[in-house]
Amino acid sequence: MTAVGIDAIEVWTGNLKLDLPGTFAPQKGEDPEKYTKGLGLNASSFPDSYEDIVTMGANAAYRLMDRKGLEPKDIGRIDVATESAFDNSKPVSTYVAGCLEGVFDGDFHHANKGERKFACIAGTQSLDDACNWIRAGRNRGRGALVIATDTALYARGDAGEATQGAGAVAMYITENPSLVELSTEQGYGSADETDFLKPNQQFPSVDGKRSVQVYLARMREALEDYESVAGDVHPDDIAFIPFHTPFPGMVRKAGMLGYRHITRDTAIEDDLAAEIGRQPREEAFDDEAAYHDALREYMSALKGTDRYADWYGSTIDPTLTLSREVGNWYTGSVHLARVSALKHGLENELELAGERVLVGSYGSGAQAEIHAETIQDGWREEIAALNIDEQLASRYELTWADYEEIHDAHNHDMDVDIEPRTTPEAEFVFDGWGPMGERKYRFVD
Ligand code: COA
Repeated sequence: MTAVGIDAIEVWTGNLKLDLPGTFAPQKGEDPEKYTKGLGLNASSFPDSYEDIVTMGANAAYRLMDRKGLEPKDIGRIDVATESAFDNSKPVSTYVAGCLEGVFDGDFHHANKGERKFACIAGTQSLDDACNWIRAGRNRGRGALVIATDTALYARGDAGEATQGAGAVAMYITENPSLVELSTEQGYGSADETDFLKPNQQFPSVDGKRSVQVYLARMREALEDYESVAGDVHPDDIAFIPFHTPFPGMVRKAGMLGYRHITRDTAIEDDLAAEIGRQPREEAFDDEAAYHDALREYMSALKGTDRYADWYGSTIDPTLTLSREVGNWYTGSVHLARVSALKHGLENELELAGERVLVGSYGSGAQAEIHAETIQDGWREEIAALNIDEQLASRYELTWADYEEIHDAHNHDMDVDIEPRTTPEAEFVFDGWGPMGERKYRFVD
């Protein structure tokens, strides 16, 4: 079967930055380490007043097309995944296509456009749709543009406020890709849950503590389902596990759960037994509470072992570096985690071609999906072309007063007009409203 996967990727961060330990924590009267150590976050990205999901998505796509020398005729499909959409009918992909048609020769009149919604997992679902479209032989030699773009804003004072973020990831999906090939094997864990939802409202209603539990429960189901088709996963076979990262502390929990699962009944469990005992088995307990106590005790001991720390340090921690600096990008978050891991590989001169990555996506409401990816020969060149460090370094750092203003300016229920804090350069910007309430955009050289 022909290899299908991600040929190229580009990221775009919101142009503003909020320092969590330095600016957010003092205002909330919290210990800065709650953010840096507990949630695992240093900063959040925010959109400036002229940025939104269209500008960030179009800017990531523009960089990608420009760098790869792509023209609209090379793209047969544009899917945007978002949970920050502002229109119940006209998809964001039409706005993005309109932006891109303004700067490239040709048009996207023969490209199929859509918008995917399932909380943060929609980016992975769009990626999956694009791969299936190509595998079905319906692409006529063209690739698919998949864009995950979100402004992850919470109501002021919500517990989720510390985990906000804004940014976009654009991916070009083709046959014989340069970056990663996707496995056809997949596992799902999906159930009707009300952990996080936005019933016709801009800011989410969230049961934060429950969302953490639902994430772990669905991810475990997805892993079991994946193993039922792909066979057992072994830690030695996997270079990185990029998980959906609402905040790195969430992934710390997912990593522990995953490691316990994939080492059960392996020589690793046997090796660790002398130090911390064997994993508790449910069938050995009459009482569920006692089983859960034993599990907690085992995981606490596991966390203290060198073996676990080494695995976590090489397989999970590298996926979190970018997230620590930008917060939650919702649909883009797991795709940024993949970039973060590969960037770590580049910076540490790792030989990754042929290595396997296990990708764990999650969307509240709720669904988890797990698939594998094989890193391709062109990965180094693709990742070296990114300018994410420059983007992060050039963000304007918000004071608390700036933050309050920018949050209000992006609040759909408020009519607040503010001066931008940054000057756009070679990017799309929001340019006011059209006669039918449509948003208008222009490219600034
Ligand atoms: N030093 C070190 N760690 C600290 C700390 C300190 N001073 N203070 C708190 N922490 C730790 C806590 O122990 C906790 O870690 P743990 O869960 O491993 O025990 C972590 O920091 C967060 O603290 P907590 O009190 O739970 O934070 P919170 O109640 O303000 O909110 C969420 C946490 C996740 C519920 C909240 O950010 C939220 O609602 N987020 C949005 C929803 C979301 O992202 N869900 C994830 C699934 S999609």
